[in-house]
Amino acid sequence: MAQNRTICTKNNVDYISIRRAMIAGARTVEEVKEIAGACGECEGCKADLGWILASVCGCKKVSLEAVVNAVKAGADTVEKVGEMTGAGTGICEETGEPCGKCKPLIQNIIDLGR
Ligand code: FES
Repeated sequence: MAQNRTICTKNNVDYISIRRAMIAGARTVEEVKEIAGACGECEGCKADLGWILASVCGCKKVSLEAVVNAVKAGADTVEKVGEMTGAGTGICEETGEPCGKCKPLIQNIIDLGR
């Protein structure tokens, strides 16, 4: 699981803020710039925005593309997306508890269909 850290060093925008922007519907660098305030141009943005935007579930290494495809194939709940892709079904290594941190993003992808 990615730890929180600064991604955009120019505007001081961290990983969690970018994830929150994605939960609010951001899917592109332009949208992350608008919603989270990232610059999209500094070394941090260049190095990390691409993979952050492309991934949904860090625990199970499930991509945005895989989740979108599952939604298009008829998965209309977070549980169904989990069954089809594994996203959202991670277990915290430290506590043994279900992680589920990516579930709000999965729900947003279902809501928006992208
Ligand atoms: S990030 Fe998806 S279950 Fe942990």
